[in-house]
Amino acid sequence: MLAVAVLAAGKGTRMKSDLPKVLQPLAGATLVERVLASCRNLAPERQVLIVGHQAERVEQSLAHLQGLEFVLQQPQNGTGHAVQQLLEPLGNFDGELLVLNGDVPLLREQTIADLLAEHRASGAAVTLLTARLSDPTGYGRVVADAEGSVSAIVEHRDCSEAQRSNNLINAGIYCFNWRRLAEVLPTLSTDNDQGELYLTDTVAMLAPAKHLEVADADEINGINDRLQLSQCEAVIQERLRRHWMAEGVSFVDPSSCTLSEGTRFGRDVLVEPQCHFRGDSVIGSGCRIGPGTLIDNAQIGDDVEIVYSVVREAQVASGCAIGPFAQLRPGAELGTGCRVGNFVEIKNSTLAQGCKVNHLSYIGDAELGAQVNVGAGTITANYDGVNKHRTVIGAGSKTGANSVLVAPIELGANVTVGAGSTLTKDVPSGALALGRAKQLVKENWQQAS
Ligand code: UD1
Ligand code: CA
Repeated sequence: MLAVAVLAAGKGTRMKSDLPKVLQPLAGATLVERVLASCRNLAPERQVLIVGHQAERVEQSLAHLQGLEFVLQQPQNGTGHAVQQLLEPLGNFDGELLVLNGDVPLLREQTIADLLAEHRASGAAVTLLTARLSDPTGYGRVVADAEGSVSAIVEHRDCSEAQRSNNLINAGIYCFNWRRLAEVLPTLSTDNDQGELYLTDTVAMLAPAKHLEVADADEINGINDRLQLSQCEAVIQERLRRHWMAEGVSFVDPSSCTLSEGTRFGRDVLVEPQCHFRGDSVIGSGCRIGPGTLIDNAQIGDDVEIVYSVVREAQVASGCAIGPFAQLRPGAELGTGCRVGNFVEIKNSTLAQGCKVNHLSYIGDAELGAQVNVGAGTITANYDGVNKHRTVIGAGSKTGANSVLVAPIELGANVTVGAGSTLTKDVPSGALALGRAKQLVKENWQQAS
């Protein structure tokens, strides 16, 4: 039987942020989401999050997760005090308790599984993850013998000069025999530099105590400040890019591009420099993205080309070409083979297949049939200052340059709009609509010299 507890009650003073530390994002997922994800496949019987500082906000951010219990730690008097809050809810739970610091987000699932297996095989009272760091500053130091038995953990600030040179550090990931831990938890004292109850002090009270050293020290990076946050982001970005390269995505300049955990790519995608993918974006096979493009929570079909553009919460079907310098805003839906050119903004609009909006247009709250050709500078005037109204343009229609379509308005199929028209009334299919002053020509206007 396995219970998992994630410590997430701390304020994260060193972040200097209004956001609780465990809600800081890395590649689109919060620290605590990452920690919880790293042990999901272990299928624990109980999964408890210890919350305290801004508890409600932390709980709300995880409302989408099933089977998570929240235990309140108030006030936050240290990691040992945090785990003491489990004495009641876990009671006589007969199994292992895996404790994870909520600020250690790079841990691999396999590493936790290895820790658990090692703990079960050795029959220790506690097994903890350790690493050897070239710079162990800030971490608790693990006092261990050559056989891997641990006698104590000393926090950095409580270390003597000699103890500080010990570079075997505590990762903040522990597997305890819960019953054994429950016996010693109430005896913790605040006799340390911070005057807090330290979970790490239980290790000296439990025997046998063992440790497992991780091979890749990147995994156990704890995040206490913005510098460490940025370093972890770099590690995650590198992991994500490597993963997608292995799946058949080419990056011309990998380190200039950032990905989110939720981004998915098809095969043979070419990503040019300076491209950023956020949220749950999906990029189809054969796409060519960038340079200089942001894609946020958008679905892109196959063989789409997007250059120097921003695509947010939009859908682009296969074979489209976007940009340079286009913006697709939320609710833009492009059918197959559409072409959206420079300085075009499209919002909350559906374009059926083969539409062309090539230059300098705003298309908002509109519905375009197939093969509509939107002339340069055409604007849908969708807002009357109070409400937004819809524009409908039938299949095969063409708007001339600098047309203004004042919504609500409906143009039938195969309508032609003369250049420079401002239309306020519906136009039936097949008609030519002109809404502009007649041209006046006054001959011999200039005196002959
Ligand atoms: C802790 C360990 C240290 C280890 C390091 C690894 C202790 C005493 N020290 O130090 O040995 O090397 O992690 O990263 O445990 N928290 C609570 N309630 C509290 C205090 C903290 O839930 O009252 C949570 C925090 O939200 C955080 C985690 O516990 O997620 C660790 O707390 P933090 O203050 O960052 O501990 P460190 O000083 O990093
Ligand atoms: Ca920490």
